[in-house]
Amino acid sequence: MEKDHTNSGFLHIGNKLLNWYRKNARDLPFRQTKDPYKIWICEIVFQQTRISQGLGHYNNFIKRFPDVKTLAEAEEDEVLLYWKGLGYYSRAINIHKAAQQIMNDYQGTFPEQYEEILKLKGVGKYTAAAISSICFGGRMPAVDGNFYRVLSRIFADDFDISNSKAFSYFSELAFLVMPESAGDFNQAMMDIGSEVCKPKKPLCGECPVHEDCLAFSLQKVSDFPVKTKKVKAEDFALQYYFVHRNGRFLIQQRKDDFIWKKLFEFLPELPAELEPFIRNTKTVFHKLSHKNLTIEITDVEVTSEAVWNSFTEQNQYIVTDFEAFHERSFPKPLESYIQNSLKD
Ligand code: ADE
Repeated sequence: MEKDHTNSGFLHIGNKLLNWYRKNARDLPFRQTKDPYKIWICEIVFQQTRISQGLGHYNNFIKRFPDVKTLAEAEEDEVLLYWKGLGYYSRAINIHKAAQQIMNDYQGTFPEQYEEILKLKGVGKYTAAAISSICFGGRMPAVDGNFYRVLSRIFADDFDISNSKAFSYFSELAFLVMPESAGDFNQAMMDIGSEVCKPKKPLCGECPVHEDCLAFSLQKVSDFPVKTKKVKAEDFALQYYFVHRNGRFLIQQRKDDFIWKKLFEFLPELPAELEPFIRNTKTVFHKLSHKNLTIEITDVEVTSEAVWNSFTEQNQYIVTDFEAFHERSFPKPLESYIQNSLKD
């Protein structure tokens, strides 16, 4: 629920951040618009991807899918293709489903209320707050890692950000400093967090609120935010067979929910009739946010035309080649494997 803290005594801090933002805002393409569709896509893209890394992808995505209707009517595979390079593909699948939700449940008009936006698939409290404040004048703080860092420093607040209550705790703090213009304030926090109040080597000399910052006056900026629990990445092993002949190779689409759902992959098992063609096995290591993957990829060059034909005619796998594979999305380590095989 929205709150009114207009007399909190800390509003001058929010206002200084806002003034700083109005002079120093980064010139980003999605800042020229209040179209909720574009703001939504940008919030999803840039949640886990740096601006410099994701901007090209964002522009291509918007060019191909300029509005909710176009996106809702597209094939899922094409949406995944345009997400290529951004990772966390479940975001693309959710975006596509949410576009269909907007067409079906809201007659194609983007919902305006925070609570309604929150009902869209893949939209959490941060994204709903960002969209409602930037596009519709809503007054919710878009609390993310930037908020945790900036606010914990300003108040020298040692609340543990790995605590499950951190989001509501820092939302309360955010309400204390947030001025009327929540949309600009939220974006001010994003910019100050990434350009000035950085995780390492913050540029306190350039910060518009360093005089108000308790951590700065205590010379303890690097002690905040406090984070006790490190989420330990889980080890996981995968096995694949890269079955190929004359530059063509076999793939299938993943159904598994565990990781990489709907992306394409090599054969997870080797049919007995291909065993004689096994050449060598490479081990590839790949880190995801919460998983350390060890992937064994065995190269299987089918040197018999007859075996290849009888196997591929069974129709169980998709046959592709080194040109056509670009039209599908593969997990990064498999894509690199294909690229390297090209060089061999
Ligand atoms: N990262 C995610 N959303 C953003 C926005 N609106 N401005 C700047 N950086 C962002």
